[in-house]
Amino acid sequence: MLSSHWPLADLRLQTPDLELRWPSPDDLGALAGLAAAGVHDPDVQPFMVPWTDATPEERARGTIQYHWSRWGAWKPSDWTLGLAVLRGGVVVGNQVVGGRDYAVLREVNTGSWLGQPYQGQGIGTQMRAAVLHLAFDGLGARWAISAAFEDNPASLGVSRKLGYRDDGFDWYQVRGRPALSRRLRLDRAGWEAARTVPVKIHDLQPCLPLFAVPAASGS
Ligand SMILES: CC(C)(COP(=O)(O)OP(=O)(O)OC[C@H]1O[C@@H](n2cnc3c(N)ncnc32)[C@H](O)[C@@H]1OP(=O)(O)O)[C@@H](O)C(=O)NCCC(=O)NCCS
Repeated sequence: MLSSHWPLADLRLQTPDLELRWPSPDDLGALAGLAAAGVHDPDVQPFMVPWTDATPEERARGTIQYHWSRWGAWKPSDWTLGLAVLRGGVVVGNQVVGGRDYAVLREVNTGSWLGQPYQGQGIGTQMRAAVLHLAFDGLGARWAISAAFEDNPASLGVSRKLGYRDDGFDWYQVRGRPALSRRLRLDRAGWEAARTVPVKIHDLQPCLPLFAVPAASGS
């Protein structure tokens, strides 16, 4: 069985409305379909890696290959967990959480997108809350960081609601123009003060060594 050797395949997070899980082949197909249909207004580019500036077919294949590439590259010293997000059994988007040198730094970063029909309904807040719970409660994180361009009120809104504080800014080149990206940072106290979404974690214990967390310390 896959999960005997790759326990991440069984890892699941549950919020009142959502399930986040390691994507099955069918979940990946569904994510690819959402990506092909479009995840944002084509007049803007919200991602620092502009993977959506491509044809629908390329976006679909790129979505699948992104997950495969992160699976193949997984190391406890540099991991990226890309989870399929389901509402009512339907795949609605993708939530990523990653850690580099996590054993030492105890810091995670996040990234996410939803299919356009599912945006603006509170799903983005619940799915980020789910991986923050995994990070702080399950993996003993000290920090979570995020970033969004200043013209992305939805992503900045999710961070604000979940207690992140401003942490400076960076400039990026986007479609030949400068774009200001706001850095955001959340510590454990901020997470605890702002948490409103109940989250359950399933089958984390066998995964802990893959996250560079000692097996006794996770929940
Ligand atoms: C970013 C994203 C994941 C957020 O998820 P979401 O489900 O749309 O966000 P939520 O509905 O949870 O909204 C979070 C907050 O932002 C606000 N918000 C959402 N969309 C907004 C908009 N277009 N304009 C202004 N505020 C907005 C909400 O009102 C909410 O705050 P409130 O509850 O105080 O009203 C989603 O919009 C998305 O996939 N966008 C396209 C891809 C993207 O930008 N990814 C992130 C790149 S950094």
